[in-house]
Amino acid sequence: MRVLILGGTSGIGLALARHYLQRGDTVAVAGRDLARLPADLGAGAAQLQAYALDVTDAPALARVVQQFSVPGLDLLIVAAGFYFNTRHHPLDASTTLRMLRTNVGGMEQAFGLAAETMLAQQSGQLVAIASVAGLLHDYPGASLYSATKRSVLSLCAAYRTALQPFGIAVTAIVPGYVDTAQLRALNQGDASHKPFILSEAQAVAQITQAIRLREAVRVFPWQMRWLVALLNCLPAWLLALRR
Ligand SMILES: NC(=O)c1ccc[n+]([C@@H]2O[C@H](COP(=O)([O-])OP(=O)(O)OC[C@H]3O[C@@H](n4cnc5c(N)ncnc54)[C@H](OP(=O)(O)O)[C@@H]3O)[C@@H](O)[C@H]2O)c1
Repeated sequence: MRVLILGGTSGIGLALARHYLQRGDTVAVAGRDLARLPADLGAGAAQLQAYALDVTDAPALARVVQQFSVPGLDLLIVAAGFYFNTRHHPLDASTTLRMLRTNVGGMEQAFGLAAETMLAQQSGQLVAIASVAGLLHDYPGASLYSATKRSVLSLCAAYRTALQPFGIAVTAIVPGYVDTAQLRALNQGDASHKPFILSEAQAVAQITQAIRLREAVRVFPWQMRWLVALLNCLPAWLLALRR
């Protein structure tokens, strides 16, 4: 299988790259900083390729997707994205635009480009890593992040409707907390207090199973699905207290 992972230089994307490399797949990872890639990642793996890429750079993104898509593309995973909480620092204009262009624009452009190849070969699967933040109606401190992930879910639904008749699957991955270095960095080095947090290995097991089964949407862990449903039922006055 030929697998392209945008945002594959760390965290969930990198863990997925390891998984597919270990299976013997041909894997390409892309990210802005290839120096983040562990030295052992490609050990013994002739099938690893790495692209220095900022997904907000539309021509560069097109070059990478088109280059790797020859001789074919079976699986595109878009993990590139970032979180920002305005509780401690206000969002400035450049971070706002960067979040929109990375979390939404990059994902949409990548899906469109990969879909061209997959439509021509009449097979393939598009996958995006959204977040349970995108299911929450109210997310104090990270409302823009939440809106970008809601957009990812909507875009996945639109691409699924458009591509299903041609045999191309679209899978939206909706994780709760995953114990990545980035999440720890956002939590002063320790994210273990986050509710129902999963290890990267547990997240990879969930994500790869959802991909294998060509599921439309996978929300995990199950406890998070219920917590989100409960939070979405809270009355306005309680939400105001939460803020
Ligand atoms: N960890 C969680 O608890 C959690 C929960 C729900 C959803 N998610 C989502 O899962 C995804 C991965 O999160 P993570 O925790 O694994 O974070 P991470 O380690 O920071 O991974 C983000 C990846 O995206 C890449 N990236 C960021 N901006 C980019 C850009 N402009 N162009 C190209 N690549 C870019 C980063 O690489 P470079 O820095 O090299 O560019 C990195 O490889 C994100 O979309 C996040 O929103 C995470």
